[in-house]
Amino acid sequence: MSPPQRRAARTPLPDGIDGSRIPAHVGIVMDGNGRWARRKGLPRTEGHAAGEEALVDTAYGALDLGVKWLTVYAFSTENWRRPADEVRFLMNFNESLLLRRRDELNERGVRVRFAGRRDRRVPRRVLRHMDESEALTSANRKMTLTMAFNYGGRAEIVDAVRAVVAAGVPANKIDERAIRSHLYHPDMPDPDLVVRTSGEYRVSNFLLWELAYAELVFTDVLWPDFRRQHLFDAISEYQGRSRRYGGLEE
Ligand code: IPE
Ligand code: IPE
Ligand code: MG
Repeated sequence: MSPPQRRAARTPLPDGIDGSRIPAHVGIVMDGNGRWARRKGLPRTEGHAAGEEALVDTAYGALDLGVKWLTVYAFSTENWRRPADEVRFLMNFNESLLLRRRDELNERGVRVRFAGRRDRRVPRRVLRHMDESEALTSANRKMTLTMAFNYGGRAEIVDAVRAVVAAGVPANKIDERAIRSHLYHPDMPDPDLVVRTSGEYRVSNFLLWELAYAELVFTDVLWPDFRRQHLFDAISEYQGRSRRYGGLEE
């Protein structure tokens, strides 16, 4: 096949997207599942279940665009406060989603990783399937899909500081580099863009250290209704922003 044919076979860039300024890392706070279900007269858990299609479509949209890192907030360290039934559902649902989707993700070159605390509240079987999925996909490099699961930004910083101290770093040598290099995934670049769905304007303990200079985009769309086009819209908004990092415009 000649090179021009190969190019033609690739998905064209969506309207309004500048292919030279695709964010390297996009984070998503997938929120609004419960409200989506309630509006339909369904139990909250049906909203979580409907979020699977949103996640898969968005992840493949990101992959097609050339986003290298996608991090999604699946379960926070604060979500344990929910009723035991819902927590149990979320544990089992995230596990089964992984088992249903990991082969396809693997075939498409996606590396699956987890960020969060592997504490005893997470069932051992779930932890085992997380480990297996990471191992299965560890050689993939097209995109890294990180599931923030039992994740809290403050917990991550606490864990990093503990690791720095455990490594014997003296107080006067603890700097941003030392902390960064002990985060859950030190090779993960900071997110360029973080999207939150469902009309809430907060970060809810997501990637606190990493989002220091992330561009934030908020949308009223409830997570189960979110599709790749909503991601493209957010990226288009991101591309209109001027990132200055405390400095001045070029
Ligand atoms: C997001 O949807 C999923 C998780 C937090 C696990 P919610 O369950 O928070 O849905 P709302 O915010 O109550 O609508
Ligand atoms: C944030 O959503 C956590 C996840 C999406 C997993 P929440 O629904 O838990 O956040 P709050 O409680 O509205 O801040
Ligand atoms: Mg919520």
